[in-house]
Amino acid sequence: MPVKAYEKRGARLIFSRSNVSRVPSMPEKTAMSYIQTGIKGVDDLLKQKGIPKGYVVFILGGPGSGKTTFALQFLHQGAVSFNEPGVYVTLDEGITQLKANALNFKLDFAALEKQRKISIIDACPIRRLPGEVKVGSLTIGKRDFSLISLIDMIKKNVKEIGAKRIVVDPLAIFTLQYPGEVERRTAVFDLMEGIADLGCTSLFVSELSEASIDRRYQFEEFIAQGVITMRKIVKPEGLIRVFTIEKMRGVDHDTQPHPYKIIDQGIEVYPNEISL
Ligand SMILES: Nc1ncnc2c1ncn2[C@@H]1O[C@H](COP(=O)(O)OP(=O)(O)OP(=O)(O)O)[C@@H](O)[C@H]1O
Ligand SMILES: [Mg+2]
Repeated sequence: MPVKAYEKRGARLIFSRSNVSRVPSMPEKTAMSYIQTGIKGVDDLLKQKGIPKGYVVFILGGPGSGKTTFALQFLHQGAVSFNEPGVYVTLDEGITQLKANALNFKLDFAALEKQRKISIIDACPIRRLPGEVKVGSLTIGKRDFSLISLIDMIKKNVKEIGAKRIVVDPLAIFTLQYPGEVERRTAVFDLMEGIADLGCTSLFVSELSEASIDRRYQFEEFIAQGVITMRKIVKPEGLIRVFTIEKMRGVDHDTQPHPYKIIDQGIEVYPNEISL
């Protein structure tokens, strides 16, 4: 990218850090249209309408809760069942490992990549950036550089395959560069705003710091248009996995906690059972 472009956009991003109360500008809404996740049980909870197109939905869960599996299925279903190609941005696992994880659930990402229905971005190098990055005569801080690079990589890949779905997994690798909650919140706003004009429906995968039902809410839950949690709870019969659509603006969705399992084909949610 030309230095001028970095200069202009870097300045905008730095300036925007001081303005933390704004909300990201999303595409102008006319009548809402929806996309189906295609994941067993999930669309039932969304009353068969699905996720409103263009939304950013956060998937929050503890370690090993199945967040990546859910995200892989979301893109796989988009590519094979709904003619909606997808871009997967991986920030912790390399591309080979991610494809192996997908294949574990019989999701052949390598084949979909060849058919240009899936594009995987390895954004792990962002973690290893030095504190400052020199671009031509300009020096940009690591945080602004990684935000701009991430947005650019996503835009390029979305355009190349005509993607309609995006996954960023896990967002924490990106946000943890920021020291405080205000900066983290603003960085997520910037990322949401940076990809908003692509019109894609996105999943941002993030950590859930507390799993109890009366837990404190995380900042992501206030800024997202949709939030899904994947938790573990202790019941007399043992530990069970619980899936809840906490929020989906503009959708009359189910709000109850439902059990889910991770099986050989991936995540399966049971909409007719409730786990309290
Ligand atoms: N074939 C399978 N059948 C049943 N469960 C499986 C299978 N393969 C993986 N799992 C379960 O899925 C979990 C991993 O799921 P996944 O990687 O999607 O979780 P995650 O929430 O993304 O984890 P992390 O926090 O480490 O990123 C494993 O810990 C295991 O419990
Ligand atoms: Mg994961």
